[in-house]
Formats: sequence, C-alpha cells, structure tokens
Amino acid sequence: MNVIYNNDLSVEDYCRLRKSVNFYDIPETEVKRALERSDFIVTAAVDGIKVGMARFMTDGTQILIMDVIVHPDYQHKGIGRGLLERIREYIEKMDYNRMLVNLLTDIKNVGFYEKLGYSRAEGMRLWLKHGE
Ligand SMILES: CC(C)(COP(=O)(O)OP(=O)(O)OC[C@H]1O[C@@H](n2cnc3c(N)ncnc32)[C@H](O)[C@@H]1OP(=O)(O)O)[C@@H](O)C(=O)NCCC(=O)NCCS
Repeated sequence: MNVIYNNDLSVEDYCRLRKSVNFYDIPETEVKRALERSDFIVTAAVDGIKVGMARFMTDGTQILIMDVIVHPDYQHKGIGRGLLERIREYIEKMDYNRMLVNLLTDIKNVGFYEKLGYSRAEGMRLWLKHGE
C-alpha cells in the first residue's frame, strides 16, 4: 500500500474523516475557520483518497495537537504513526527553546501515543454551547 503524506485538506475530506471515527459534527463554516487557523496540517492519502489527518495549533511555546484520525479501514497499518512522525519532524524545525506538545485522547488510544513517546498527564475540559 502506497501512502502519500501531504498538507492539503478540504472541508469535505475533514468532515468525512471526522464522521468515519464518529467524532461530533462541526458546521462547515466553523470547519473552514478551524482549518485556516491551524498552524500545521498533515494528511495521508491512498489511491488519491484522504484516509488520515492530524493538525496542530501553536503559540510558539506550546502545541495543541487535534484531530488525529485514521479511517477505520486503514487503521493498524502504520498511518497514525506516519502522521505523528511528520508532525514531530515539522516541530523539530521550528524555532524554540522548550516546546510542550499537548493532546487530549480517549483512554483506548493511550498505548498508541505512548509508543510515540508521549506520556500521560492530567487534563481538564469544559464543553460549552452557544448561548449557555
Ligand atoms: C488512534 C489512531 C489515530 C491510530 O492510528 P493507526 O494508523 O491505527 O495507528 P498505527 O497503525 O500507526 O499504530 C502505531 C503503533 O501503535 C499501536 N497502536 C495503534 N492503536 C493503538 C491503540 N489504540 N492502543 C495501543 N496501541 C495502538 C500499533 O499497534 C502500532 O504499534 P507498532 O508500531 O509496535 O506496530 C486510530 O486508531 C484512529 O484514528 N482512531 C479513531 C480516532 C481517534 O480516536 N483519534 C485519536 C484522537 S486524539
């Protein structure tokens, strides 16, 4: 299987990939803004179809990785590792003294991230809806 890693991602492919792993829906206008504001996006394609993605935002001292997604038909083939390795390569070329790379994930994915050098940390989150 030939996997091509790239940096372009359409709103449609982003929504399709999120849906494939049952992430909640985001309206297309918000998706467009979120992708534009991302500092780095990496995608994986097989036969011209996007099958994986990851992205991050940064203030130059910390990074927040989001949307690490591999389509279920393509999981356990090394694509998730490939995405995160490319993120790491990009970060290592950035200008920084110390960089803290953060992400939130389900407990079921902890082993995946540990294999890539990440360690567990406590996290907190607050869900808000417009008008609440
Ligand atoms: C988590 C996810 C990105 C992993 O992608 P993947 O392409 O299946 O992972 P890889 O095949 O690159 O796996 C890399 C290594 O991690 C291991 N691994 C993969 N998923 C794992 C898991 N859930 N728990 C423990 N180890 C895991 C693999 O066995 C492999 O090990 P190896 O290198 O020793 O052979 C993918 O399962 C996914 O998209 N899940 C749904 C969306 C999601 O929850 N994303 C995380 C949100 S932050």
